[in-house]
Amino acid sequence: MSTNLKMLQPYTLSSGVELKNRIMLAPMTNFLSNDDGTVSDKELAYYKERSGGVGTVITACANVLTHGKGFAGEIGVYRDEQIPGLKKLADTIHAEGAKAILQIFHGGRMCPPELVPNEEILSASAIPAEREGSKTPRAMTEQEIQDTIVAFGEATRRAIEAGFDGIELHGANTYLLQQFFSPHSNRREDGWGGSLENRMKFPLAVIEAAQAAVKKHADESFIVGYRVSPEERENPGITMDDTLQLVDELATRNLDYVHVSLSDFYQGSMREDDTTPRMELIKDRIGHLVPVIGVGSLHTPDEVEKALETGVPLIALGREMIMEPRWVEKVENGDTASIRTTLQIGTQDELVVPEPLWSTIFSVPGWFPIED
Ligand SMILES: Cc1cc2nc3c(=O)[nH]c(=O)nc-3n(C[C@H](O)[C@H](O)[C@H](O)COP(=O)(O)O)c2cc1C
Repeated sequence: MSTNLKMLQPYTLSSGVELKNRIMLAPMTNFLSNDDGTVSDKELAYYKERSGGVGTVITACANVLTHGKGFAGEIGVYRDEQIPGLKKLADTIHAEGAKAILQIFHGGRMCPPELVPNEEILSASAIPAEREGSKTPRAMTEQEIQDTIVAFGEATRRAIEAGFDGIELHGANTYLLQQFFSPHSNRREDGWGGSLENRMKFPLAVIEAAQAAVKKHADESFIVGYRVSPEERENPGITMDDTLQLVDELATRNLDYVHVSLSDFYQGSMREDDTTPRMELIKDRIGHLVPVIGVGSLHTPDEVEKALETGVPLIALGREMIMEPRWVEKVENGDTASIRTTLQIGTQDELVVPEPLWSTIFSVPGWFPIED
């Protein structure tokens, strides 16, 4: 067993929870939940297959309100009736030996209208995303903002009651928390918009609501993490300078980690001619205050060790864990030669990638490295 590898060393979060190793399953929407947002059996099978080696599983994003549903087949965490299914999911992950973190979110203007009540999508302001076919959302009222903050707290309570070890607030990938922080989607002129400080208020209020739920319903070991996307391409859009100020604030909020969402761990700027990895900028800024999680196009054990050597303590694997569910076990057994880094047609059953996840992967050219 390759115990001298850094990735196999345990890691203790400030809340006291020990993760058995440094590898996490990245949050990945799998389109496998039932239409009413309850967890399905095929979803349990998909997670069971992927929870045996990693220290931590971060689930697909779960919507905290019906008008936050971003994908068909998404997990819901907006009704108490969903708790028994969520409990089965937490139990399945625990039975394989990993910690279980539920990612919670609201899709905001990125929700397909047909998935939300009255086909009415909501966001900070009535500005559509700069993507072909995007619909214009309605700006949330003060009451809807307050209700959404409460909903994140209630979703946290449900995750606690279902037996999860923590929640991750999905503040990345263009969804509602990011939409409030973004000068593109947030043009509000009230206290929730305008200055950088005002644009941070909604995400910070959501963190407070989640932490208040933890204080009330769990012990202090319950994990609360936050995911960010460092930049936006749009103009106006989130700049690295904005994000460094946001993470400065996050670092004072008693979070267990900050997770930096990137498609490539070493990715430079998407706004300007600057190749300095965004991850490095964030780690250098707050890594001494709060653990940062890195992710993005890391496939082989060597690549993961090298990423850990940069000083980032935890690494999440996404597509790699779809292509190779037993990635960590193979590293532990010294069987790295058999780790698959491409998706092979004909392996769907073996890899436990149920429909419609399998077809969705194949429908987006270049998303996964596919081999005949
Ligand atoms: C099928 C799929 C679904 C995803 N869904 C989510 C999601 O629900 N929440 C999230 O924060 N990121 C999501 N992501 C992004 C991943 O968490 C990860 O950041 C990205 O895939 C880059 O890591 P990788 O190169 O290891 O795949 C998804 C990625 C994939 C491939």
